[in-house]
Amino acid sequence: MRMYDLIIKKRNGQSLTEDEIKFMINSYAMGEIPDYQMSAMMMAIYFQGMSEEETLALTMAMANSGDTLDLSGIAGIKVDKHSTGGVGDKTSLALTPMVAACGVKVAKMSGRGLGHTGGTIDKLESFPGFSTEIEIATFEKNVNEIGISIMGQTKDLAPADKKLYALRDVTATVDQISLIASSIMSKKLASGADAIVLDVKTGSGAFMKTLPDSVALAEEMTRIGNGAGRKTVAVISDMDQPLGLAVGNILEVQEAIATLRGEGPEDFTQLCMCLGSYMLVAGGKAENEMQAREMLAEVIANGTALEKLAEFVKAQGGDASYVYEPEKFVLAQIVEEIPAPESGYIQSIVCDEIGICSLILGGGRETKENEIDLSVGLVLHKKVGDKVEAGESLATIYANDADKCRQAKQRFLAAYTIAPEKKEPQPLIKKVIMPSGWNEGKIFLI
Ligand code: URA
Repeated sequence: MRMYDLIIKKRNGQSLTEDEIKFMINSYAMGEIPDYQMSAMMMAIYFQGMSEEETLALTMAMANSGDTLDLSGIAGIKVDKHSTGGVGDKTSLALTPMVAACGVKVAKMSGRGLGHTGGTIDKLESFPGFSTEIEIATFEKNVNEIGISIMGQTKDLAPADKKLYALRDVTATVDQISLIASSIMSKKLASGADAIVLDVKTGSGAFMKTLPDSVALAEEMTRIGNGAGRKTVAVISDMDQPLGLAVGNILEVQEAIATLRGEGPEDFTQLCMCLGSYMLVAGGKAENEMQAREMLAEVIANGTALEKLAEFVKAQGGDASYVYEPEKFVLAQIVEEIPAPESGYIQSIVCDEIGICSLILGGGRETKENEIDLSVGLVLHKKVGDKVEAGESLATIYANDADKCRQAKQRFLAAYTIAPEKKEPQPLIKKVIMPSGWNEGKIFLI
C-alpha cells in the first residue's frame, strides 16, 4: 500500500477502506509517512469529506494507536462525560460528584484550558495539593472505591490523534466535522468508559458557532460512539453567553461548590440536571429522566453530592476542607465593579470575548506552555434578558495587575449590548441526539 495512491483516491472523492485507513494512521504514528503527505490527505478529506464507515474506521485506528484503558475490572457501568468546551463551563466539577453520589461510576480523562475556554484540570488544581497526574492503577482504584476519578490525558492515549491534531492545527484542516468527531471520540473510546454523555456547545463562545454545525458534530460523534459499542448521547447546549456567572478557575470552583449546596445559578444547575439524568440512565441507575432528576435533586438536598466532591478531592491529594469552606480560596487582590454605561436590557454578550477577558487577566493560556493565575476572573451580575440601570454593576472583576484589569474591563464592556427593548434569553438546551431506542417509552422529556 502506498500513501501516494491513498491521497489520489481521496482527492478524487473515493472512499478509503478500513485497511487503508489503518495503514495510514499506523504508519503516520510510527513516523513512516511524512507530514507533507498527511497534510495533503487532511486537505483532501477537508474538501471531499468522509463516509460514516470511514469516520468510524479513522476513530478506531486512532483510538488503538496507543494505550487503551481496560476498566472491565471495575464493577458496574462506567460513564464518561465530555464537553466541547466553552466559557464558564465548570460542569464536570459539580456534575461528576452528583452522578457518583447517585451510584454511577465516573471515569473521566480531562484536559487543560487553551485559548478562551477553560479546562477541568486547571480548575481542579485550585484545590491545594490536587493532582490529576495519577497512575492508572490509582485511577481505577478511585473509580472502584469512591465512584469517581479524573485524570489528565496520558501521552500514550491515542498518540496518532495527538500528532494529527497538531498537524491539522497548522494546515487549516481543523474545522472538518468528521476529523473533529474522530479526534474527540478516539480519546473517549481509548479511555475505556462504557457510556459517554457529550455536551456539544453551540454559539459565539463555542468551537461550533452555529446550531446546524453543532448538530452535525453531535450526530457524527454519537454515531461513532454507538457504532463502537458505547452508549453515547449528545446534548447541544447554548454557549452564546457564559454558563453560570463565574468565569475564572477558583471562581468557577466556588460556583460549582455553591451548586452542590443547591445555591448555584439556574442555568448551570439546569445543565447539570440534564446531563446528569442521561448519565444516570446510561449508568443503569435510573429508569427515566424524571426518576434521575429526583435522585440528583436528592443528593444535592441531603449533602451527599458535596461529600462526594470532598472524597474525590481528598483521594487525589487535594485539601478537601476547601469544599466545606470555599471562602478559604485566595482570590486576586484587585476587586472592581464594571458599571453599565446605560440603562436597558442586555441584548447579547459576545461570549468568547468574556473568555478572552479572563485570558487577559492571566486566567487562561495562549499556548500550552503558559502558566496561569487561578485567582483571577469575573463574576457576571447581568446576563441576556436582564434589566440594568446605568451605573449598576454588570460584573465584578478579580485581577492581580492594574493594566490587565483596565484592558479586560474595556473588552468586557465592548462585549455587552444594552438596548431599551426587552429581550428573551435563548433556551439553554437546544437539542438532544440519542441512539435509537432511548426515546422509546418516553424516557426523556427534551
Ligand atoms: N478537540 C479535539 O480534541 N480535536 C479536534 O479536532 C477539535 C477539538
